[in-house]
This record gives sequence, C-alpha cells and structure tokens, in this order.
Amino acid sequence: MSEQNVVLTDSASNKSTALPVVSGTLGDPALDIAKLNKDTGYYTFDPGFVSTASTKSAITFIDGDKGILLYRGYPIEQLAKQSNFLEVAYLLINGELPTPDQSSAFEHEVTHHTMMQESLRHFLNGFHYDAHPMAMLCGSVSVLSAFYHDTLDINDPEQRRLAAIRLIAKVPTIAAAAYRYSIGWPIRYPRNNLEYVTRFLHMMFEVPSEPLQLSPVAAKALDLLFILHADHEQNASTSTVRLVGSTGANPYACVAAGIAALWGPAHGGANEAVLKMLNEIGSADNVSKAVEKAKDKNSGFRLMGFGHRVYKNFDPRATIIREMCHKVLADLGVNDPMLDIAMKLEEVALKDPYFVERKLYPNVDFYSGIIYKALKIPTEMFTVMFAIARTAGWVAHWLEQHNDKDSKIGRPRQIYTGATNRDYVPIDKR
Ligand code: ACO
Repeated sequence: MSEQNVVLTDSASNKSTALPVVSGTLGDPALDIAKLNKDTGYYTFDPGFVSTASTKSAITFIDGDKGILLYRGYPIEQLAKQSNFLEVAYLLINGELPTPDQSSAFEHEVTHHTMMQESLRHFLNGFHYDAHPMAMLCGSVSVLSAFYHDTLDINDPEQRRLAAIRLIAKVPTIAAAAYRYSIGWPIRYPRNNLEYVTRFLHMMFEVPSEPLQLSPVAAKALDLLFILHADHEQNASTSTVRLVGSTGANPYACVAAGIAALWGPAHGGANEAVLKMLNEIGSADNVSKAVEKAKDKNSGFRLMGFGHRVYKNFDPRATIIREMCHKVLADLGVNDPMLDIAMKLEEVALKDPYFVERKLYPNVDFYSGIIYKALKIPTEMFTVMFAIARTAGWVAHWLEQHNDKDSKIGRPRQIYTGATNRDYVPIDKR
C-alpha cells in the first residue's frame, strides 16, 4: 500500500480528512474510505457500485477503456488460442498454470467427481416437466449442500478445495440432466474416458439407441466459449457469491446464489435475450427500426448484447467470439439468417451517434447465442452454459475470499428516504 493520501474538505465545516490511497499491481487506485463515517459522519453513495472496489483480488484484471482482460496475468487472447477450459479453471483457482503432473491430477480429480448422487437425480424428478433449466440448476446446486456434508466446514482448507472440485465437476452433470429431464430423455451418466467438454456434450446429446457422432469443431468451440466466460472479476454474480460467502454460508449455497444472479437479462440472461431479440427482428431489413426503438427510452427496449458496465471501448471476448462465430458456422455447414441480422445490427448500431457517444459495443453475449444455436444447444440452456463456465470463476473467488484475513461480512449502508418517526394508528382510526 502506498503512503499517498487524498485530502477531502467538507465545505460546510471546512474540516479536512485524509483518505489513504490503495493501489494494486494494475488499474486505477482507490481511496480507502473504511473509516470515513467514523471520522466525518458521512457515508459514500454509489448505487450499482460504479466507483466502489469491494475487495482486493489477484484473479482477473480488466481495463475497460483499452479492452484488456487478463486471467492471473495471462491475456484472454493467448488463453483462448493455446489453453483449454480445465487448465483455465486450474489457473483461476491456483494462480499458476499447471505442470503436466498437476494438470493430469486436476483432470483426474474433476473427472472422478462428475457423478451426482442418485437421490439428487430423484430430486430433479420433482420439477415440473417445463421448468426452466436455470431454475433446476439453481435449486439442484443449492441442494448439493444436503448431500455433501464432508465439504461444509468452510474453516477447513481441504474441505473448501474439495467443494470447489465438486462444483466444477458436478455442475455440467446437473445442467445436462436438467435439460434431458425437460425434454423427457433418460439421463446419461458422465463418461470418464472423455474430457470435460466432450463429456458434457455426450451427457447432453447421446441417446441410448445409437453412438453420438460429435464434431470436434463443436467441442473446440464450446471449450473456447467456456474459457471466455470463466471469470470476469467482480461482476454481479461473482459479487453475489462473495457477498453470500462473507456470511460464512456453505459453498453450494454461495454458487447457487451466483447462478440466480447470473440468470437476470442484464447479466448472463442476455445471451438468451439476444437470440429472442434477433428472432423478433426477423430480417436484416427490420434492423434500423429496432435500433430506433432501442434509442427511444419510452420503449423499454434495449439492444441485448450491447453495452457493458466496464468495457467502454470493446469487449475483447466479443472480438474473439465474433471471429469464431463465422468459423464455427462455416465448419459445421450452418447457414443461419440470425448471423446476417446480428451483423447488420452491429453495423447499424456502431455507426449510430447514440451508441457511439455512450460507448455501447457488442458484449460477450452478442454472438455467443448464435454459436450455441449452431451447436444445437437450445435457447433456454444458453445461460446454463454460461453458469457451467463461470463456476470456475465463482469458486476461485470464494476460495480467495476465505484466504483473505481482511474479509468481512458484506453489509452496505443506505440513504434512508422513508417516513420519519410517527405514531402507530389503530385500524379503526385509519
Ligand atoms: N441499448 C440501448 N441503450 C443502452 C444499452 C442498450 N443495450 N445499454 C445502455 N444503454 C444506454 C442507457 O439507456 C444509458 O443512456 P443515458 O445515458 O441516455 O441514460 C447509457 O446507455 C448508459 O447505460 P447504463 O444502463 O447506465 O449502463 P450500465 O453500466 O448501468 O449497464 C448494461 C450496463 C446492464 C450491460 C447495459 O448496457 C445493458 O442493459 N445492456 C443490455 C443487456 C446486456 O447485454 N447484458 C449483458 C452484459 S455482459 C454480461 O453480463 C455477461
């Protein structure tokens, strides 16, 4: 921590307060306001945490102006090209790329925790057949805490580590089971002879009656999408995991809370919303009309997959996904009119002063839905895909939080705007 201070002066009392500056290894410094209320009687007001760092973290760095995303210091472009999802999960959790031995041991351990308890499978049967898979995933992950009592002592580092492995291993199994349940297909058990992503695709699409012909392009594309979605520092769902984690709640409850936060259309639910929006637009000829509607604040309509709280230049993940989208569709021989609509929408919006002035660029979810669709993943499963990948980031943050001796229960303050003190009026007098 530097010795630098920033001095604030209250113009009413002329009293000055020195706030220590906190700096990390990269990025803008912050003012340490932890003692502000004690020293001055003021709170800070920052709805949506636009200017507030809630924690120190060594996992992921984003420079939103320059379009930079680093996992543990490694640029996302290099990881996307050279790594794979399980290696990235190891990196996020452990801070370093694994050696060949560490890599095999990690893969072996994850692989041997992919089965779900048979009673958990029966639990899934309790859902209505048309339940949204995000609802099933959220409920089932939360219920893992009822099955794995040996990982609930959050003060034991080994139990924490094992819980992290279990979550990375079991979330794809539950996700695929939720999908199969919703379409009335028998659940497929995870096959240990396959690697992570291919195993998931088998659990999704293999039928008992014939072997699955899986395109290597599909597995590679999904692995890349998982890498790009694996972490994104203190986004809404990760902050939710940390907030729930700060109370000492068990890891399964924390990750279930993260899944619930991810589901919202302003966050991970955007990939599903993008495809619905492209369907509604229907043809490239209607794009200008849709852009005009998105600019009209009274319409209640926003361009889904556009804009980001942090990226005010471009989302580096969107650049990778855009390129990949063309390649995957070409390799799989898919000719999807949605891609034409998406490209036209991007072209029109990026020339429009409304979007230019507000620095609204396509985000990670703008093209991911088109790729999922080409991989035959149904629309309701898009956010589930995101959740599988983001589980790696959630558990990395949860583990980091529990190693941080400065971690405290999260408890924001408020500016109260309600009625002032008044006397109760009995019902017959109202
Ligand atoms: N379409 C039209 N206008 C938009 C959009 C959009 N997609 N996004 C932001 N704006 C406008 C706002 O109306 C606002 O205009 P104003 O200054 O005239 O009032 C301005 O741009 C700033 O928008 P905010 O909502 O203040 O920006 P914020 O940082 O709070 O929100 C968010 C970011 C939620 C991502 C927003 O851009 C949005 O709703 N996008 C669509 C949903 C989406 O794609 N979400 C996925 C995000 S990526 C992820 O979570 C994986």
